[in-house]
Amino acid sequence: MIGQGATGGESGGNFSRAQWYERMHDWEARLAREVPVLLEVVGPPAGNGILDAGCGTGRHACALAARGYRVVAADLSDEMLDVGRRVAEVEGVNVRFVCAPFQALPTAVGGGFDAVYCIGNALVAAGDGAAVQEALRRLCECLKPGGRLFIQTLNFPLLRVDDPCVRGPKVRRIDGVEYISLKHYHFASDSVLIVHSTLFNDSQWRCWTHCGTVYPVTLDELSAWCVRLGLHVDEVWGSYGREPFDPSRSGELLLVGTKQDAPASQGGPCLPTCRRLRISDCPL
Ligand SMILES: C[S@@+](CC[C@H](N)C(=O)[O-])C[C@H]1O[C@@H](n2cnc3c(N)ncnc32)[C@H](O)[C@@H]1O
Repeated sequence: MIGQGATGGESGGNFSRAQWYERMHDWEARLAREVPVLLEVVGPPAGNGILDAGCGTGRHACALAARGYRVVAADLSDEMLDVGRRVAEVEGVNVRFVCAPFQALPTAVGGGFDAVYCIGNALVAAGDGAAVQEALRRLCECLKPGGRLFIQTLNFPLLRVDDPCVRGPKVRRIDGVEYISLKHYHFASDSVLIVHSTLFNDSQWRCWTHCGTVYPVTLDELSAWCVRLGLHVDEVWGSYGREPFDPSRSGELLLVGTKQDAPASQGGPCLPTCRRLRISDCPL
């Protein structure tokens, strides 16, 4: 099934997208690579908690909760969240799971978070460039001043060089079933269709496919949007190895920002400064 837009489409298997997502990732390896970077970015547990936006099956949220963080994990997909709730139960951790699209997050989960992260290409699934920018705005609204934002996507301009590009195969064996997976990226001018195809043999060979479109954001766009939204861009890495981003070599794009007191586009810190005034500070 092809071309069902940002929410994707699937066909051919006997499992849901959330179950497939769980099976296709080596979570032990992923968390071992990614959680130390998350911990560095968000800092030690503080009072206001962490928001995992586009949390998927909640693996990162559970890993942080197990380390003493108060975590809210939000996603558009109830199916992903249901798996996340089961993961939290099995791991004996407390995570608040909320079903909400990015644009509804400030209303659904409130503001003032110590840190917000949106990883695994989740942000670029918001829609076109305007929708991704709007999603970013909403993530920033959820942050306290001084709070940190962490975004991770693929380095799309590099993938585009190979268009149409294929990544894989990735082979996994789970409960005696072999899964062989390929990802195809098909670029249009301002979108990428990502098709996941998985062959699996659970008594006979079958094929499961899923597709969705994402916006191929570039570093220039992402950092300009962040600055416009009042973030200071602290770090730009090319992978979870934390080496500096290299547009012609890095497979991923990781951006860390800190929310400043006022967005640059508002011409200065007037509003937050005024809000911080106490009556006793008032010159009248
Ligand atoms: C590739 S998964 C990444 C999940 C998780 N962050 C990880 O790294 O494993 C992308 C997630 O983004 C969610 N998503 C896509 N569009 C969204 C939107 N507009 N609002 C909220 N979540 C969205 C999907 O439901 C999916 O769970």
